[in-house]
Amino acid sequence: MEKVRVKTRYSYDVLIGNDLTEETVSRISGNCKKTVLLWDEAVFSGYVAEIGNALEADGKEVMAISLEGGENAKTIESYSKIMKIMSDFNITRSDAVFGIGGGTVMDLAGFIASTYKRGVALVQLPTTLLAACDASVGGKNALNIGDEKNVVGTFYQPDLVVIDTRFLSALSDEVFSEGCAEIIKMGFLGDKDMIAELEKKSLLKNRGDEDYLVRIIKRCIEIKAAIVETDERDHGPRNILNLGHTLGHAIEAESNYKIHHGQAVAMGMVQMTRIAENKGIADIGTLGRLITLLAEHGLEWRCPYNINVLAGHVERDKKVRGGSLPIIVPEKFGSCVLMKLKIDDIKKWLTE
Ligand SMILES: NC(=O)c1ccc[n+]([C@@H]2O[C@H](COP(=O)([O-])OP(=O)(O)OC[C@H]3O[C@@H](n4cnc5c(N)ncnc54)[C@H](O)[C@@H]3O)[C@@H](O)[C@H]2O)c1
Repeated sequence: MEKVRVKTRYSYDVLIGNDLTEETVSRISGNCKKTVLLWDEAVFSGYVAEIGNALEADGKEVMAISLEGGENAKTIESYSKIMKIMSDFNITRSDAVFGIGGGTVMDLAGFIASTYKRGVALVQLPTTLLAACDASVGGKNALNIGDEKNVVGTFYQPDLVVIDTRFLSALSDEVFSEGCAEIIKMGFLGDKDMIAELEKKSLLKNRGDEDYLVRIIKRCIEIKAAIVETDERDHGPRNILNLGHTLGHAIEAESNYKIHHGQAVAMGMVQMTRIAENKGIADIGTLGRLITLLAEHGLEWRCPYNINVLAGHVERDKKVRGGSLPIIVPEKFGSCVLMKLKIDDIKKWLTE
């Protein structure tokens, strides 16, 4: 088993390995008498039952609530329904919420744990590659309002994150690829050696190589943890994690969420790299390498929407402050810069 310690204001461990149920339960506080397992119904129910049984054997009451994964999980409606169930189950402040699912279930579980009675313990068990490498650490959570993503949310660090690779082996190639997009983003931001390794050995094509998978996940968490530790509440440096996301969010919204988050981020990174190369900011050849790398990981790089249409969405980005927006501009693999630009200038950049 591998371990990364995330040193935020409230520090926590991220465990990565195979068959971690016993280890997980051994780390739950003795004061916790009741647990709520929020689990994505697409996850193999046998693993969820295994966790529930182990918690019960440890003397805890378990309430398991299954939900449909995807953006519809992150709604006010599912939030209030689950809050009511938790209240009826008389969950107290010493009890715990477990999020077992992809990034959408993580975001919902995090928001519930942070607001129920002003905060209960949170254990995140990511079951998609994207959630393992990105959404499960950093303490951001969110709900969508209508078709607007992540409008409501808090910062709330989990008490423990457990990445059990057994969950990941059940993913379709398509969902696995979406996680590869965020992995490539992490390498683009801070690890050119990891990019070179992925170029030589596609993680998608070698997804059964457990040691390789664990090493790449661990590296992504180390990169994300180092960034989050410097700016837990997203006042500046943490914005760098949004590489490809300004356009990515616009692509997701324009597709009515038919294009999923990871795939949209991949297209967003391509567009930003194209612009950066045209402007002489990114090294020539970076775009070509990125496109090849994405294709090797099963990701579409061509954006199906007119860039003028996407530019319209950018104005509504929740990071807009006083008419400016931070955008992340690639220089080369392993190095990207954060620039604050006026919305009009961003639109010009996108469309010229
Ligand atoms: N909070 C953060 O820091 C952060 C970071 C990145 C992304 N996100 C959010 O994460 C979400 C995307 O996460 P995602 O890509 O994991 O999407 P997701 O949660 O929708 O999961 C993708 C699909 O995989 C299914 N699934 C989940 N686990 C499975 C398993 N083990 N086997 C088979 N199928 C499984 C789900 O039901 C869903 O259909 C977006 O809402 C995004 O905004 C949050």
